[in-house]
Amino acid sequence: MNAVLRDMVRENRIQVSDLIYPVFVAEGQDIRNSVASMPGICQYSIDRLSEELDRVTDVGVPALLLFGIPKHKDEWGSGAYDDGGIVQQAIRFIKTNEKYKNLLVIADVCLCEYTSHGHCGLVKDGVILNDETLPLLAKTAVSYARAGADVIAPSDMMDKRVGAIRAALDENGFLYTPVMAYSAKFASAFYGPFRDAAHSAPGFGDRKTYQMDPANGREALREVEQDILEGADMIIAKPAACYMDVIKDIRSFCKLPIAAYNVSGEYSMVKAAAANGWIDEKKVVMEIMTGLKRAGADLVITYHALDVARWLKEAE
Ligand code: PBG
Repeated sequence: MNAVLRDMVRENRIQVSDLIYPVFVAEGQDIRNSVASMPGICQYSIDRLSEELDRVTDVGVPALLLFGIPKHKDEWGSGAYDDGGIVQQAIRFIKTNEKYKNLLVIADVCLCEYTSHGHCGLVKDGVILNDETLPLLAKTAVSYARAGADVIAPSDMMDKRVGAIRAALDENGFLYTPVMAYSAKFASAFYGPFRDAAHSAPGFGDRKTYQMDPANGREALREVEQDILEGADMIIAKPAACYMDVIKDIRSFCKLPIAAYNVSGEYSMVKAAAANGWIDEKKVVMEIMTGLKRAGADLVITYHALDVARWLKEAE
């Protein structure tokens, strides 16, 4: 077939407007720390955040997913819901800066970066306390919204957190702040490099009591159904590439926009193979992006976002 025709009949394509770029903001000064397990990804303090934000705006990526690395952690994860916390400061910096204020700021809501034990909720006698964690997640969401976050993305996987967050946002006047729920989030080994980047590895045990068993597809649909009933506006499926069947199932099951989270381990594997000259990085990354679109994702959260945006521009 002729290349022009092939291009005309192409069923799926990734566009720059599909991309969401995760950014790690660290408390402190003059920080630009490379994350060893994620080549090309750094943590920035607010005074140097412009270096990263300029790269984002230069290539036209429209949205950020913010993660915070606080200086101090405690049992209750209080850094998450502190109005002066690192993510709140970062949001205010972005939203009060003429150059960056049009970036869509999505705030990841979870306690694991802020708790001394590294779990996503409160812990008592080695058990993660679901219901007791909900008010803290809700408080975090409201605090991010107050700082100016455009979208709230709970990734903790506590049951009933979407409802608790929605109610708290509404009560505090943030009726139009949407919730992008990590509904189909699996207890995955692919999060390994992220836990280096965000210093959030659990100090004991694992996350299997609140994240899903990778063997379960139907359960993902139940989680999606529950989150929709509680008021989710968008759905995140995570990880992405090994779970394209789940994305496809969610696509046929509901009408909400779906974001596929191409997670840290997926990124690092590609980077490592590319660094060794074993794969063609650009072609492999674009194939993954297109595959996720084909599976049914509307948006892709990816550490490759800036490269993808640049490659798309070059191809114009
Ligand atoms: C916080 C959170 C994690 C990721 C996103 N939000 C880590 C985890 O659940 O352990 C993983 C992202 C990635 O691997 O890129 N709960």
